[in-house]
Amino acid sequence: MKFLSLSLLSISALSACVSAGPLAAMDQLRLFSSQEPELRLIQYGEDTPPRWMTEADKEALLRAGVKYMDITEYPHPPVSSLGSEWKPFIPANARYQDEVAPFIGNLTTDTMKEVLTEFTSFRTRYYKSSYGAKSCRWLIQQIRDVADGFDHVSVEEFEHSWDQFSIIARFEGSNKDLENELVIVGAHQDSVNMWMPSFGRSPGADDDGSGTVTIFEAFRSLVHNGFNPERPVEFHWYSGEEAGLLGSQAVSNAYKEDGKRVVAMLQNDMTGYVGANGEVIGIVTDHVDEKLTDFLKNLVDNYAGIPYVLTKCGYACSDHASWRKVGFPSAFTIESAFDDSNHYIHTTGDTIDKLSFDHMKEFSKVAVGFAVELSHKRD
Ligand SMILES: *[C@@H]1O[C@H](CO)[C@@H](O)[C@H](O)[C@H]1NC(C)=O
Repeated sequence: MKFLSLSLLSISALSACVSAGPLAAMDQLRLFSSQEPELRLIQYGEDTPPRWMTEADKEALLRAGVKYMDITEYPHPPVSSLGSEWKPFIPANARYQDEVAPFIGNLTTDTMKEVLTEFTSFRTRYYKSSYGAKSCRWLIQQIRDVADGFDHVSVEEFEHSWDQFSIIARFEGSNKDLENELVIVGAHQDSVNMWMPSFGRSPGADDDGSGTVTIFEAFRSLVHNGFNPERPVEFHWYSGEEAGLLGSQAVSNAYKEDGKRVVAMLQNDMTGYVGANGEVIGIVTDHVDEKLTDFLKNLVDNYAGIPYVLTKCGYACSDHASWRKVGFPSAFTIESAFDDSNHYIHTTGDTIDKLSFDHMKEFSKVAVGFAVELSHKRD
C-alpha cells in the first residue's frame, strides 16, 4: 500500500468516468449497455464525487495502491429504521481490568499459527474465485469448532452476490434492554494478487490473514473462558475488502436498515509485520471516530505490552470505513506506522515467514479489551 495521487494514474484508466450525476450517468449507460463492459461506481475521497469505471480500471487502482470504496450497490446512505438519530456513549478510560485479565492471560500463538498456516495455503482468497469460496467454508468451520457447545454464541454466513460469504460470530448479551446494540470486532478474510486478481497466487498472510487470526484468537479466548457480555458482541470476517470494501458495506448497510445500533467497531487489517521502527501498535487517526480512537489509545496503554504510534492511512483504507459511512463509530489498529508497514502485500511474497505471531497477539489483547470494555453499559 502506498500513497499515490490520482493525477499519477493514466487518464485512460479513468476514462470511463462520467461527470454527470451518478444516476443520470447510469441511465445513459443503460442505453448503450449491450456493448459496454459493466461499470462500477467508485469513491476515493470523502468529499470527492464518485466516478463510474470498469473492473479493469479498478484493478489499475489496486496496482497503483489507491484505496477506494466500490459503492455501486450502496450509492445512497441507508435510512435507519430507528428513525431518530442515536449517539452511543464512548468511555474515556478502561474500567474492567479484572474481567479482561483472564481472557488476555489465555491468549496463545498456537492456534494463530495453525489457522494461518492452513489459511495461506489456499491458492488465493480472492472474493470471486472458487478458491475464495473454499477458503471461507474452511474458515467458518474453524470458528464453528470454537463455538461448538456454547448456546449463547452463534456463527452465521452472511451471503453476498458473489461466492465468498462474510462470517458473523455473535455472543448474545445478557441484558435484554441492550439487545439491539452491539460491539463489533472485524478483519477481512479475502486476499488479492494485484497482477492477476482472479487466479494469481495470493497467500495474504499479513493482508489480512494476520487480522483474521488476531480476532480469531481473541474470539477463542473469550468463548473458552466464559465471556458473557451485557450487550451483544460480534466478530466479523469480511469478504471482498480488496475490491472496495464490498462485504463490510453489505453488512453495515443491512444493519443500519434493520435499525441495529452499533456502539463501536474495531478493524484489524495487517497485524503481523514488525516495521523498521520496532514493535508498536499503529492507531489510525484519519477517517475514524475521534472519541473511540482516544479510547483505543487508553486500551493499548491498559492491555497491550507495547506502545502505540499514531498514523494515517487515507480514505477507505479498510472495512472500518463501511461503518463510518453509515454513521457508526469505528477505529482501526495496524501493525506499524503506515509508511513502515509490509510492502509485500497483494503479491506472492505476502508470506508467514515475514511475520511475528507475538506481534499479532498484542493486537488480540487490544481486541479482547475492546470487546469486554464496550460490552458494558456506562454513561
Ligand atoms: C487456556 O484455558 C484453557 C481452558 O481453561 C486451558 O486448558 C489452557 O491451559 C489455557 N492456556 C493458557 C495459555 O493459559
